[in-house]
Amino acid sequence: MTNIAVFASGNGSNAVNLVKAFNSGSRIHVALCLTDKENAPVIEKMKDLGVETIYFPRSIWKEEPGIIVDTLRAHDIRIIALAGFLCFLNEEIVSAFEGKILNIHPSLLPAYGGKGMHGANVHKAVIEAGEIKSGATVHVVTNEMDAGPIILQREVDVIPDDTPESLEAKVHEVEYRIFPEAVVKLVSSLTPPAVPQSVDDAWAEALGVPNNVPPVPKGAQQPVYVNSQANPAPHPNQNIEPRPASHMGQPHPAAQSEPMPPTFLVWSVVCTILCCTIPGIVAIINSAKVSSKFYEGDMDGARRASRNAEIWIIISFVLGVISNTLYIPLSIAGLF
Ligand code: GRF
Repeated sequence: MTNIAVFASGNGSNAVNLVKAFNSGSRIHVALCLTDKENAPVIEKMKDLGVETIYFPRSIWKEEPGIIVDTLRAHDIRIIALAGFLCFLNEEIVSAFEGKILNIHPSLLPAYGGKGMHGANVHKAVIEAGEIKSGATVHVVTNEMDAGPIILQREVDVIPDDTPESLEAKVHEVEYRIFPEAVVKLVSSLTPPAVPQSVDDAWAEALGVPNNVPPVPKGAQQPVYVNSQANPAPHPNQNIEPRPASHMGQPHPAAQSEPMPPTFLVWSVVCTILCCTIPGIVAIINSAKVSSKFYEGDMDGARRASRNAEIWIIISFVLGVISNTLYIPLSIAGLF
């Protein structure tokens, strides 16, 4: 199981989408949500989904990034997904999770990225410039804003009647598809699986207990545990070792892994209606499994489901042709 954290400052529809894509499976789990906005709507949504959520004031994000890193380590987080997170990440956080932080941006980067380009500002700028295409991009976070290696990008059409709101809705739709897909790609590219990286971790792992709990330096502003099972106690070892960051070259390895196999959903439905119903239903079930297996990171399962869907479509089609061919002469002969 790979634990991921989402960072969000706003509505959190992408954060919710990631939880729904992953948390019922067994490969990837959204284990933590961090926010820099005390009243962000995402907090309630994560609470309803049972995801632990912690608010850290901006001062912690900017001046005490070690607390954030230690919190992530304490929750065994391997990957971070920025889902509408409006605080520029401190270098210490970026280097502690180098190559393992993804951001989703509502434009076709590098266009309409950088300072001030977030939310409605992006869509307004795209429409004002008369663009006919916009879209969404998932990229790896570096110390330069909106500039890391691109993992996935998808276009949407901009039509003359579009408003920033209507364009935002279209872009959100593609975001909900490409963000989980990009997370799966990144998880698949992380080989070999993460190993304990400090004596502390190895010791905690041997004892079967989490190597918990970030130290909060004296005088620092305390984080607020919004939806935490328990407020962590101070860490017994205040001198936590820095962990080596992984080194990932260009292009990012996640950008090279496989796309989702075809689901054949439309054909399954068509065959169920027009051909033979029962094999058609089996085809639909397998079609639905393709994306769920894929988002769980089970590529073999997704490929198998895709192949099964294809086979059941063919069976449904053949049985449909046979039964219709027999039905017509038999009904002419008055047997039906
Ligand atoms: C998304 O459009 C994302 O691309 C950008 O911020 C927006 C967040 O939307 N980074 P939501 O909070 O996930 O609804």
